[in-house]
Amino acid sequence: MIKKGIILSGGMGTRMSPLTKAVNKQLLPIYDKPLIFYPLSILMLAKIREVLIIVNKGQLDQYKKIIPDGDRLGMKISYKEQDKPRGLPDAFILGEDFIKKDKVSMILGDNFFYGQSLTKILNNCVKLQQGAKVLLHKVANPENFGVAILNKKKIVKIKEKPKNFISNYAITGLYFFDNKVIQYAKKLKPSKRNELEITDLLNEYRKRNKLSAELIGRGGAWLDTGSIEDFYKTSNFVSVIENQQGFKIACLEEIAFNNGWIQKNDIKKSIKFYGNCNYSKYLMKIIL
Ligand code: TTP
Repeated sequence: MIKKGIILSGGMGTRMSPLTKAVNKQLLPIYDKPLIFYPLSILMLAKIREVLIIVNKGQLDQYKKIIPDGDRLGMKISYKEQDKPRGLPDAFILGEDFIKKDKVSMILGDNFFYGQSLTKILNNCVKLQQGAKVLLHKVANPENFGVAILNKKKIVKIKEKPKNFISNYAITGLYFFDNKVIQYAKKLKPSKRNELEITDLLNEYRKRNKLSAELIGRGGAWLDTGSIEDFYKTSNFVSVIENQQGFKIACLEEIAFNNGWIQKNDIKKSIKFYGNCNYSKYLMKIIL
């Protein structure tokens, strides 16, 4: 079972400047919560209780104001600073002491997932024995994504932003790896844009025939919140679902409570922490 997860929550957020000049993208709101709540909630739905959040150098204090540690969630949450965006595989080099000898999952801080069968898919993914696994989602514009060609559940080819159509299965920002990921990440050389590339890391597994995939079906949503349009689109999505159904997406305390990690008393502490707001009112309903 994979019991550890990393959230890669740094980055420059260039596409969203000037919003991201003073505040990190993952601390900006998606409707009624900071973006970071959404990827964290996905790891929690996968029953991952030990999480490392990688943030930009100098931004730790801001993050700790909203997620000080894992105590209120019955989790173990720690932080590590990245001094510059060296690329996604850097997570496994920075995270070596956190991962130790275990397997690990990694989610990008700006990725949003939602859907009925998601928890079931996540529960399958954490059962990974060896190799690596990615989540794929069909997209209308594959030329903007890294895409994969499949042979049953094995990935046989990956192509970053293909000019000509080869597949419309985009590789999303949620990955599951065995412990070899540290060794493979350390071997990677920076690309032309001077970053370690996730495609190169995944190819290390693919060429050994050890890269598999789970598909998020058409009932599931995956949104990459990299641009301001994506931010508004995702905010609208959350607002429609939440206001229609009366449930919150990514309410961390609710997931922790349903997982049996915290008690009603812990939720009371969270209500005190957040203060008088709609999020707290929702928490009150959980403990009625
Ligand atoms: P990107 O979307 O590649 O980068 P970004 O968020 O800085 O945005 P922009 O392209 O507008 O500058 O990153 C994907 C996610 O990974 C995002 O949540 C930031 C994070 N990230 C890091 O934490 N460290 C890194 O070295 C990189 C490359 C990304």
